[in-house]
Amino acid sequence: MVFATGNPDARIMLVGEAPGHHEERKREPFVGPAGQMLDKILTAMGIARGDVYISNIVKFRPATPRQTTNNRKPSPEEMASCLPFIQKEVAIVEPECIIALGGTAAEGLLKLEGAVGNMRGTWHQFSGIPTRVTYHPSYLLQSGSSLPVKRALWEDMLAVMEKLDMPISEKQRTFFHPKS
Ligand code: URA
Repeated sequence: MVFATGNPDARIMLVGEAPGHHEERKREPFVGPAGQMLDKILTAMGIARGDVYISNIVKFRPATPRQTTNNRKPSPEEMASCLPFIQKEVAIVEPECIIALGGTAAEGLLKLEGAVGNMRGTWHQFSGIPTRVTYHPSYLLQSGSSLPVKRALWEDMLAVMEKLDMPISEKQRTFFHPKS
């Protein structure tokens, strides 16, 4: 079981898919390469990892036969079995905003299906909390992750910062801008 990490009084809750190989070993969400990318995103926002609450839609690493370092997407049944956890976490933490990282988190929380590109760029609601869907940090790590994808994720983070009345510098506004 890999539960969650961070500040239980956080203003921002981030929800990913499920722990992977690295997370299972350390028993902490987002500590592998995707976690390092997430830490960079938070740093760019001016936030420390310990300031936010980081969790996953599924609390265990989905198993595969003869599993080594490979991971798989959780099934709808696995997501449904863990939904009461995330509902309770939201009720306890009472974040001002939730960020769903990737399509699986969006599916688990919001019952959305399809491309993340069609889910992002707008506010949704989970348990009455404003929820933003954006790309999973591992998507940015994949070779094809282009400047427009990075900029789109960053615009979602800017929307979160604006919602929370966080200070945003002119430099922050231009991050990953094609012309910057
Ligand atoms: N990817 C996720 O979605 N969650 C983790 O905790 C690690 C990688």
